[in-house]
Amino acid sequence: MSQHNADYFIESLNETHDRKSFSCGVEALDRYFWQQAGQEARKHIAATFILVEMSTKKLAGYYTLSSIGIDVGELPEVITKKLPKYSLLPATLLGRLAVDINYKGKKLGELLLIDALKRSFKLSKEIASMAIMVDAKNEQAVNFYQHYGFIQFPKRTNKLFLPMATIASLA
Ligand SMILES: CC(C)(COP(=O)(O)OP(=O)(O)OC[C@H]1O[C@@H](n2cnc3c(N)ncnc32)[C@H](O)[C@@H]1OP(=O)(O)O)[C@@H](O)C(=O)NCCC(=O)NCCS
Repeated sequence: MSQHNADYFIESLNETHDRKSFSCGVEALDRYFWQQAGQEARKHIAATFILVEMSTKKLAGYYTLSSIGIDVGELPEVITKKLPKYSLLPATLLGRLAVDINYKGKKLGELLLIDALKRSFKLSKEIASMAIMVDAKNEQAVNFYQHYGFIQFPKRTNKLFLPMATIASLA
């Protein structure tokens, strides 16, 4: 698992970033970024990481991470049969991920996703998390995540997960 692009860097969102210039074409994701991301970071609800173009300092993308419990009954039996019988299992929520419309198709979605997976894996060694979960906003997003090996929840096809054990094997 390696992903590197020297023209961009990823950092935590802060007040100095010009969020208003960003648009990914999905209104809910734009509005969240403009209006809610800062507040949710301050309230420890979701941490936002942004992708910045080095030469222009423009914001090319973002993703958010939070802790979440996965209801054990929602996971496929092939996974849960090997796990302790807790009703909720610890996981990491990749709540949102988006690339600005001017930057699409340059592998920046991949850059953000791999950064999110690596960061989550690294942190899971200190606060355990057995999977990364995503709530896909539409069918395109489902396809994007499946392209990277995410598995649909049996009864909730817009929710997908990637076991941390899979990420560990790629690290
Ligand atoms: C989905 C999104 C993040 C992809 O970002 P991107 O930078 O355009 O995509 P990339 O250039 O990194 O694509 C990397 C790979 O994913 C594939 N891919 C991209 N979008 C895809 C889709 N909708 N379905 C399937 N595969 C997709 C690309 O073909 C490419 O494959 P390759 O490595 O085999 O060439 C971006 O289009 C976006 O922000 N969409 C709107 C917001 C959204 O839907 N977010 C996701 C859910 S919250």
